[in-house]
Amino acid sequence: MVYLDNSATTRPDPEVIRVLSDVMENIYGNPSSLHGLGGKAERLVKQAREAVAKTLGVSPKGIVFTSGGTESNNAAIKGAAFQYQNRGRHLITTEVEHASVYEVCRQLQELGWKVTFLPVDVQGRVRPEDVEKALTSETVLVSVMHVNNEVGTVQPVQAIGSLLQAYPKVLFHVDAVQSFGKIPLRPKEWGIDLLSLSGHKFHGPKGVGCLYIREGLQLMPLLVGGGQEEGYRSGTQNVPGIAAFAKAALLAAEKGKQHAPRLYQWKMEMLQKLQSKLSGMMVNGDLSREGCAPHILSLAFPGLKSEVIVHALEEEGVFVSSKSACSSKGEKPSRVLKAMGLSDEEAVGAIRISMGLDTTQSDVEACTDALLRVIPQLQQVMKVHGS
Ligand SMILES: Cc1ncc(COP(=O)(O)O)c(C=O)c1O
Repeated sequence: MVYLDNSATTRPDPEVIRVLSDVMENIYGNPSSLHGLGGKAERLVKQAREAVAKTLGVSPKGIVFTSGGTESNNAAIKGAAFQYQNRGRHLITTEVEHASVYEVCRQLQELGWKVTFLPVDVQGRVRPEDVEKALTSETVLVSVMHVNNEVGTVQPVQAIGSLLQAYPKVLFHVDAVQSFGKIPLRPKEWGIDLLSLSGHKFHGPKGVGCLYIREGLQLMPLLVGGGQEEGYRSGTQNVPGIAAFAKAALLAAEKGKQHAPRLYQWKMEMLQKLQSKLSGMMVNGDLSREGCAPHILSLAFPGLKSEVIVHALEEEGVFVSSKSACSSKGEKPSRVLKAMGLSDEEAVGAIRISMGLDTTQSDVEACTDALLRVIPQLQQVMKVHGS
């Protein structure tokens, strides 16, 4: 099996699985308990917080463990919107955010907030000057993702963070779920106030992630109760998940440095081969070294349907996806690709190939060969069918 659907989720690293199972078996105390087993669990959570903070270059006090990317995004956006609604009720985001940002903004819109959904260029990139133009005296938050999960385009978060320095009352949230471990990420230097991560995107367990909150920043908590995580996120901590998440973060930060340049090289080699041998193929998003994440490649074959391509590749033992995992069963063409200017016909023929930190060159070659077999066959069938 060749697994190239790593933007949907990754295979947990064996070392991560060991930590998870070891903690489940041996350190099952509640970190809030006063006895020794609780103390051990509490120390593990503390160590995990320090480790994750180190990989981001931030203070451990700013790390709040959550159940993953969706919760972190909800907690950041709703938390800021509710906390600072006396300052104003305007939010700025983009048309290409993941549903866990986009739908939160739509929900707030229904509750009376004004939301500006900024357009993107043909590569899927928002312009920092558009962010600045959209700011009003009512704006409380700007939320822009780091790497787009469907096409891999890197957003200019550093430039946005730097322009927002002139607007100290406007908070800046970055969904970095697809970028961690793949491209450099420096929340503090880039003026980021809130940042979301998810463990299962970098070979950690599902259902655990974190929200980085700049020190001193108040958010209205999404979950209230026992006051865990300094009151930002009540609920008994998922200690095994948190320990395993921290292990995955350390491994990804380390492995990513060596592996990411290789992933980019393989992606470009694959593309060259496909472009030289296939007709009617479109490439979506930016492909420059600095402008894209090394692990995501989005292709479109107008006239074909992405589900058909995905299933034909599966027959060849290669697993890729149509758009993003949460929306890939939906009928509609991708909102992200439409925002980039693709027609319906182009957008419904898109597939996403996404590599992980365990992907090998032979995986990429096998996928290339499978595409070279499958696409001309499907195009031929469509031709016969259409004539
Ligand atoms: C960019 C982005 N943000 C957020 C999420 C949601 O993360 P989770 O699956 O941990 O809820 C995803 C998952 O696909 C994603 O790609």
